[in-house]
Amino acid sequence: MRFFLYAGCALIAQLLAVAPALALEIQLPAETAMLRPGAAKGTEATALCMMCHSVDYLSTQPPMPRGFWQAEVSKMVRTYGAPIPADQIPLIVEYLDSAYPPARPAASR
Ligand code: HEC
Repeated sequence: MRFFLYAGCALIAQLLAVAPALALEIQLPAETAMLRPGAAKGTEATALCMMCHSVDYLSTQPPMPRGFWQAEVSKMVRTYGAPIPADQIPLIVEYLDSAYPPARPAASR
């Protein structure tokens, strides 16, 4: 029994010793997509969304009503655990509603 304990410890020590040699260094491509202009206050808060995924997750959505964005932000927080302060949520929804879809040209309003 004691042998297995010692052998186990030795194995763990060996694994720890070689671990740094196995560390891979990866270089991610620079992020090029940016948040669209929109309700100024919420733009900064929406940058919090980019800690997990790129802005493409927003810009590839079809034009959606405000309720969709409200539900999306809730899902990110409740289901995926996005650490976004509660007081920032209305600002983010406001921003998303103003910028995704982008503002319509003045002539079509
Ligand atoms: C904790 C990490 C995390 C944060 C922070 C986060 N998301 Fe996400 N998001 C995810 C995951 C995981 C998915 C699902 C990815 C997949 O299915 O490929 C996702 C998917 C999405 C999608 C695609 C549609 C869907 O529902 O799958 C949208 C839109 C989106 N996120 C918007 C946001 C917005 C807006 C914020 C900021 C309020 C945000 N995300 C912050 C993790 C996060």
